[in-house]
Amino acid sequence: MLRVEDLTKVYEKGGRGRKETVRAVDDVSFDCNPGEIFGLLGPNGAGKTTTLRCISTLIKPTSGNVYIDRYNVLEHEKTIRSRIGFLTSDMKLDGFFTPGYMMDYFGSLNKMAKEEIGRMKDLLFNELQMNDFVDKKIDKLSTGMKQKTAIAISLIHDPEVIVFDEPTNGLDVITSKSVTDFLRKQAGNGKTVLISTHIMSIAEKLCSRFGILVKGEIKELGTLKQILDRNSTDSLEDVFFGYVLPEGGSGVGHAQ
Ligand SMILES: Nc1ncnc2c1ncn2[C@@H]1O[C@H](COP(=O)(O)OP(=O)(O)OP(=O)(O)O)[C@@H](O)[C@H]1O
Ligand SMILES: [Mg+2]
Repeated sequence: MLRVEDLTKVYEKGGRGRKETVRAVDDVSFDCNPGEIFGLLGPNGAGKTTTLRCISTLIKPTSGNVYIDRYNVLEHEKTIRSRIGFLTSDMKLDGFFTPGYMMDYFGSLNKMAKEEIGRMKDLLFNELQMNDFVDKKIDKLSTGMKQKTAIAISLIHDPEVIVFDEPTNGLDVITSKSVTDFLRKQAGNGKTVLISTHIMSIAEKLCSRFGILVKGEIKELGTLKQILDRNSTDSLEDVFFGYVLPEGGSGVGHAQ
């Protein structure tokens, strides 16, 4: 089980005597269970990527902690990393290599045995329907194929926790559906899945619980029904707009 506890991240910007700080994530807490897909929703700049980066040990929290079972990111960085598959929106793949080669490379970086790498390649290439292009150079692949490659690489070590930052960004409806179907299957197999997105329609269909993040703060947390009931509406989008649009804009009243 993944637990985020009072997570805060303050960035320091500027230099030469002019120090500015940005409180990107402010006292955020939520958890995500095996078999569940949790959606972290928020507009641009809300702090989604920062939260997911802290969880995946890429950056250190200013305060608070993240746990997977009894391990935490402050004391057990390596263990946490081995248990998480992190997909970032800015992952750069070297265009010269093929998906097949990249999987071998990342598998060996993870110190996996050859047979184990082979098993995971078969599994992920099949489930992501990648077999037609695993031997093509990455710079010849479409956006969707590149995204599937990035997804496969992020999961080569068969992690129990899947943390995907905007996994359907820039994908057409077909590829987007194959990615969401894949995530649903992963949760069905008992994985703990956490995604960030600003696309309400995808979140609503895919996730069982949600956190709405605005300016670094969690404004809503719960199942769709809990959030809708609390705001007396039948539209998650309305709740979202209620927080992000200026006063008087569309949307419903706030619960808090
Ligand atoms: N490395 C950094 N240094 C300084 N400020 C940063 C850094 N990364 C992010 N920020 C700031 O922190 C805030 C949260 O950014 P973050 O990228 O986490 O948001 P996001 O919800 O992922 O947004 P988006 O939907 O645009 O991806 C923003 O104000 C951003 O400008
Ligand atoms: Mg982001």
